[in-house]
Amino acid sequence: MKIEFKNVSFSYDKNEGEVLNNISFTIESNKMTAIIGRNGSGKSTIAKLITGLLIPSSGNIYIDEVEYTESNVDDIRRKIGIIFQNPDNQFVGSTVADDIAFGLENKCLAPSEIKARIDKYSKMTKMDKFLEYNPEQLSGGQKQRVALAGALAMETDLIIFDESTSMLDPQGVKEITKVIKNLKQEVNKTIITITHNIEEVLTADSVIILDEGRIIKQGCPKEVLSDMSLLDSLGLDTPECVKLISLIKKMNISDSDKWEKILWELAFKM
Ligand SMILES: Nc1ncnc2c1ncn2[C@@H]1O[C@H](COP(=O)(O)OP(=O)(O)OP(=O)(O)O)[C@@H](O)[C@H]1O
Ligand SMILES: [Mg+2]
Repeated sequence: MKIEFKNVSFSYDKNEGEVLNNISFTIESNKMTAIIGRNGSGKSTIAKLITGLLIPSSGNIYIDEVEYTESNVDDIRRKIGIIFQNPDNQFVGSTVADDIAFGLENKCLAPSEIKARIDKYSKMTKMDKFLEYNPEQLSGGQKQRVALAGALAMETDLIIFDESTSMLDPQGVKEITKVIKNLKQEVNKTIITITHNIEEVLTADSVIILDEGRIIKQGCPKEVLSDMSLLDSLGLDTPECVKLISLIKKMNISDSDKWEKILWELAFKM
């Protein structure tokens, strides 16, 4: 699913300033795009515009070359899965299994298919032992896993992860990052990940840096993340490999270019 923002501005309140200020970008089909930026820079607002929960104050959004309008918002939304930043806001079922089933029932899938997907995605997110629990009884990280299972089970063309690993322990972050990486291999999957985890950004095909509702930089991870002073000035973390490369350059060793190349290669393999 290709997404294009053309001169999009947005404000929650006309009397307050614009939260997104005339932004244009393209998210390519079947690629993984990371959106990064400090708190309040407008990342979740972009996710809500893509899902049609908000409408631009000005500018246009195109999904697969078709302009997003009130008449096609329902059709488009059906093709999009989103895991919101705060998992508490997205539970509808009285048990974990019901919750994962909810969207699938709305899709009118056969009961056997619903059961198969609940099994598959609860195992993938390691929540298969909790299917009969009430979501309220779960920890923050467990809720986040259920939200993930529910969104993944919809098997949509586009899936948006809005800081969906923020409450997970380090092992959990690794597991879910692997799930996202595996999704990347699937045909016809477009992934948007909004994250403060800079190492996760390295797994993306393209990165957008947002600051105060404006796009500061966009490109492949290596291009965008190698500018340590820019990342610092935006309050963003720097990948470990970039920190090491900067130290090596300061040491003035003769083959620093070779080391830079090796460190980038290793960073992408991790
Ligand atoms: N429902 C709302 N009503 C009014 N203002 C809002 C609302 N939601 C967000 N904002 C404002 O819009 C701006 C962008 O918020 P947004 O949630 O998009 O940021 P973000 O980049 O996702 O931040 P974070 O990293 O903290 O999740 C912030 O200044 C915020 O105060
Ligand atoms: Mg946010």
